[in-house]
Amino acid sequence: MNEPFIPHSRPALGEAEAKAVAEVVRGGWVAQGRQVAAFEQAMAKVTGQAQGVAVSSGTAALYVALMALGIGAGDEVVIPSYVCTALWHAVRLTGATPILVDIEPATYDPSPQAVTRVLTRHTKAVIVPHMFGLPADIETLKSHGVPVIEDCAQTLGVTVRGTSVGGTGKLVICSFYATKLLTAGEGGMVLGRDESLMSRVQTLRQYDEEDALVRAFNYKMTDMQAALGLCQVARLEDFLARRRTIAARYHEAVREAGLTPPWVPAGLEHGYFRYVVRLSGPVGPALDRARSLSIGCRRPVFRPIHRYLDLSGFPESDAAWERALSIPLYPALTDHEVDRIVGALPAILAG
Ligand SMILES: Cc1ncc(COP(=O)(O)O)c(C=O)c1O
Repeated sequence: MNEPFIPHSRPALGEAEAKAVAEVVRGGWVAQGRQVAAFEQAMAKVTGQAQGVAVSSGTAALYVALMALGIGAGDEVVIPSYVCTALWHAVRLTGATPILVDIEPATYDPSPQAVTRVLTRHTKAVIVPHMFGLPADIETLKSHGVPVIEDCAQTLGVTVRGTSVGGTGKLVICSFYATKLLTAGEGGMVLGRDESLMSRVQTLRQYDEEDALVRAFNYKMTDMQAALGLCQVARLEDFLARRRTIAARYHEAVREAGLTPPWVPAGLEHGYFRYVVRLSGPVGPALDRARSLSIGCRRPVFRPIHRYLDLSGFPESDAAWERALSIPLYPALTDHEVDRIVGALPAILAG
C-alpha cells in the first residue's frame, strides 16, 4: 500500500485557532487592533524584550529594523551567506551593501571570526540568524560594538544560559510564516527595548495620521493574524516539547546510520525548528531516496546567497549546501508519521 506523502513542514492548527480567527471576524474589527497589541505583548514575553511592533512579514521586519537604525546607501550590513535570501533583499532595499560571511560548520550560525574579518568603518549592523533552532553566539558578535539584529525567524522559546533567545540584540525580528515555529499565516515582528528605535519602527509600519510626511509604509498585521498567532504562543511550550521528543527518536536512527545528530554546545538548548544531518556524500541522492519513500526531505537552505552571486570563498556554506539534509520535524507530525520517518532513515541516510 502506498503511504501518503509526508511534507517537509506543515503548521499545527486546531480548533482553538479556527475559533479565535472566527471570533475576530464576527467582532467586525479585522485590521490592526487589540489582538495585534496583545500579540506584541505576548511576543515581548517570549523573547524577553520590552516591546514588539507587529508587521506583515519577517522580511518587512528586517527592512524596518534596518531603517530604524538609520541604515542606507554607503553603509554595510554583515549577513551570513547560508541563510534565506530575505536578509539580502532587506539590506538591498535600504540601499546599503550586504557583506556576506561564512558559517560555523557545526552550528550553521554565522562565524564570529568571519564577521570580525569583514568589519569596516562602514559596517552599521550585523544580522545574526539563530539557525534551525539553535541560538547563535550573540555575546561574541556583540563584542565588536556594531549593532546586532537578532533574527529569531527560526528559533524561539529556547534559553541561552538562562536568558530567552532574542533577549539581547539591539533589535530582534521574528517571522510568523505558515511553517515557522509559531504561525500567523504570514507576519513578522520587530522587538526591542530602545524606545526611540521602537518608535521609529512604529512610524515606518503605517503611513496614516502622522503629523509630518515622514517616510512610512503599510506593513501592518491584521487582528485575524494576531489572534491566530496568540493561540500559537499559548502552545509554544508544547510545540517545543513535541519537537524534542521527535528529535530524540531521530538521534537514535542517525547514530545507527553512523552519522552525528545536530550538535548542541554546552549550556544551550535546541528548539529543532529543523532537524539537520550532515551526510557523508552529496545530498541529492538522499532527497531522491526520501521522495521515493513519500517523505519530503529538503536542503535546509535552498541556496546560499554567494552562489546566486557567483562568489567564492565560502567553503563552509558550500559544504553545508552540498551535504546537509533536513528531515521533516514539526509538532503536527502524527506518531505514525514519525514511525514511518524513523523506519525510513536507514534507507535515506545510507551511502
Ligand atoms: C532566518 C530568516 N529570516 C527571515 C526570514 C523572512 O521571513 P518571512 O518569510 O516572514 O518574510 C526567513 C524566512 O524563511 C528566515 O528563515
